[in-house]
Amino acid sequence: MTTSDLIQVEERPQSQRCYQRACAVTPAGVHSPVRAFKGLGLSPLIVDRGEGDEMIDVDGHRYIDYCCSWGALLHGHAHPAIVQAVTQRVTKGCSFGVSTPVEAELASCLLKYLPADQLRFVSSGTEATMTALRLARGVTGKDVVVKFTGHYHGHADSFLVQAGSGCLSLDSSASSAGVPHELAKLTLCVPFNNVEVLLQTLQRQDIAAVIVEPVAANMGVVPPHEGFLELLRKETLEKGILLIFDEVITGFRIHPGGACQYYGIEPDLICLGKVIGGGFPVAAVAGREKVMRYLAPLGPVYQAGTLSGHPVAMAAGLAAIRLAEESSFYQDLEDKTNFLLEPIYDFIIKKDLPACLHQVGSLFTLFLGQRDIDNLEDVKGCNPEMFKEYFKFMLERGIYCSPSQHEANFVSGAHTQEHLLYTQETILEFLDSRI
Ligand SMILES: Cc1ncc(COP(=O)(O)O)c(C=O)c1O
Repeated sequence: MTTSDLIQVEERPQSQRCYQRACAVTPAGVHSPVRAFKGLGLSPLIVDRGEGDEMIDVDGHRYIDYCCSWGALLHGHAHPAIVQAVTQRVTKGCSFGVSTPVEAELASCLLKYLPADQLRFVSSGTEATMTALRLARGVTGKDVVVKFTGHYHGHADSFLVQAGSGCLSLDSSASSAGVPHELAKLTLCVPFNNVEVLLQTLQRQDIAAVIVEPVAANMGVVPPHEGFLELLRKETLEKGILLIFDEVITGFRIHPGGACQYYGIEPDLICLGKVIGGGFPVAAVAGREKVMRYLAPLGPVYQAGTLSGHPVAMAAGLAAIRLAEESSFYQDLEDKTNFLLEPIYDFIIKKDLPACLHQVGSLFTLFLGQRDIDNLEDVKGCNPEMFKEYFKFMLERGIYCSPSQHEANFVSGAHTQEHLLYTQETILEFLDSRI
């Protein structure tokens, strides 16, 4: 590729016009902070449409997409089966505020794969984790929640304490202003993969729940150490603490049964999102009936949502899960990801580069500037300038990676061998020439 073939990412006139217009009416022009590309020195991507594994911006540039709507698009953009399901359903009316049959259909379809009897649909991952925590507090009668530093569970107040994802790019040491101090005190933070601190913390008698991203994916992908989740399950069971797996990213992404099946662990509550909506706003909290029956109107824990179980979104989710049920879907996805990453992994080792590559199923992060990563402290040792250079290098060559060192990248069923190979060669070129 010659310099003249590169996308001039600093000169996208339509994108810049749209962005300026958006900035006049919206803080930083975006409706979710990470979209602003803060710290990357570039104006954000403004997309016109998606086709398979590509996004096309309003200036007509095509990018192979490894962000996949932050993991929601297991089958890439505008998959015909999902488009058909949505179009058929929407002609019957958008939303009714009462039940439609497709809710139970999607719920049964999901529950087949989960160690849970029931679930309740909500519209965002934030609602799912917020509901799970309220439920845990309602069931145990205790108030404290334990989370892991750098894990992200959405933007409910109780979780904005040493949180990951976009919070890691904020200048302030607190994850957010506006969280009452008294509430934040009820959230205890433990370093991921640190058994000693975990055991010490769990000695307290006032803990309602431990919430964990079983594979951390919001400080970049950081897998659990062998035995860590098992120990967490054993200790929480013994102490009557509810264990919440936040599988908003990992659910139906790394395995049909998410991390529960991948690691063979049965938590008390499972939060789902992203993939289960096929690109639409669907999330859920799932658990055993004895816990789920605490939810209103059966039980005393209140939870509700005008658009929960939205029929068009349910139809999209159902179509997405049915596609994933086709035999060998997950194996093929992992094979594709291995095909993309193995030579990169080998190259890093062979050249002893200051970098490391983490992968679980179709989730991956290339960490730049740090060799070993087990928790947030290690992630902080990465080199933000190197990431900035990498992100621009890839974007200029028509590859859109998740726009932060603290995020996961995703391979979808739509990624072609040709595009995976091109991506692999481009990453290798970057590593060879710039590090
Ligand atoms: C693990 C995890 N939990 C919860 C959330 C919050 O989901 P939402 O953005 O749909 O509110 C996210 C979002 O990225 C997530 O990654």
